[in-house]
Amino acid sequence: MKKESLVSINDISKEEIIDLLEKAKSFEENPNRRVLEGKVIATLFFEPSTRTRLSFETAVNRLGGRIIGFSDAATSSSSKGESLKDTIMMVSNYVDLIIMRHYLEGAARYASEVSSVPIINAGDGANQHPSQTMLDLYSIYKTQGTLENLNITMVGDLKYGRTVHSLLQAMSHFHPTFHFVAPDELKMPQEYKIFCDEHNIPYYEHREFSEEVINQADILYMTRVQRERFTDLMEYERVKNVYILHNSMLAGSKPNLRVLHPLPRVNEIAYDVDDNPKAYYFQQAKNGLFARQAIICKVLGIDVD
Ligand code: CP
Repeated sequence: MKKESLVSINDISKEEIIDLLEKAKSFEENPNRRVLEGKVIATLFFEPSTRTRLSFETAVNRLGGRIIGFSDAATSSSSKGESLKDTIMMVSNYVDLIIMRHYLEGAARYASEVSSVPIINAGDGANQHPSQTMLDLYSIYKTQGTLENLNITMVGDLKYGRTVHSLLQAMSHFHPTFHFVAPDELKMPQEYKIFCDEHNIPYYEHREFSEEVINQADILYMTRVQRERFTDLMEYERVKNVYILHNSMLAGSKPNLRVLHPLPRVNEIAYDVDDNPKAYYFQQAKNGLFARQAIICKVLGIDVD
């Protein structure tokens, strides 16, 4: 198998996505396999993370590999002014794979161009989060039994939320209908709406988070308003509490509806939703371990079958 970076969900085909989902299922059945014995993997996180970093590191540990890296760039020489290029060229001398999160859009692509080892993009600014998308697809497939012909409702910060951008593009293979619920300030960017038009994907935009919108959804994909991406904090204050999902709002929803959220949540899902069987966000985060085991093996060219 070829070794290659995973920078964008658009880098992989529908067949590769399906293969990764099958491998994630296999890892869920047996997550402890020593296929990374002798490999060293770096996690370079220039932005904070809980799930992505810890699930990637757990994935490596369960596969018998070793981890180096940093969770806070302030402890690395980038705080002394070292460039991303020099950092990546140095770290790629030491390891077999780099998993990187960066606040700049395009940073992962750039890193993949200067690195001598594959890069997995663990999130670059408001652009892409392909490993999150793989765990989202795995979660959707597990809960719906299919990825085809689903009504996906995305709610909240559709402007800065990289998870919705990656998910929209990945779902384009599977004939979705999208509903975008956002205030004017956080609407789905034009480039993603053009992408939908080019792929004949129907989408509907809403300002109101109504029960009518909730009741036709198969997947309700809630997102956090991304405070760290606002240049004007007054604008953040205006929109931060714009949509809050309460348990009572799910009363008329479809039996197969599942509520997803990439997490962390701030207050966009009330705690009373957590005990509803339709709330799936914690299982979704757990699925990240298996999806990331599959991704690591793919980019390292390790055939687990
Ligand atoms: N979903 C996600 O990327 O979470 P973290 O920021 O905690 O990694």
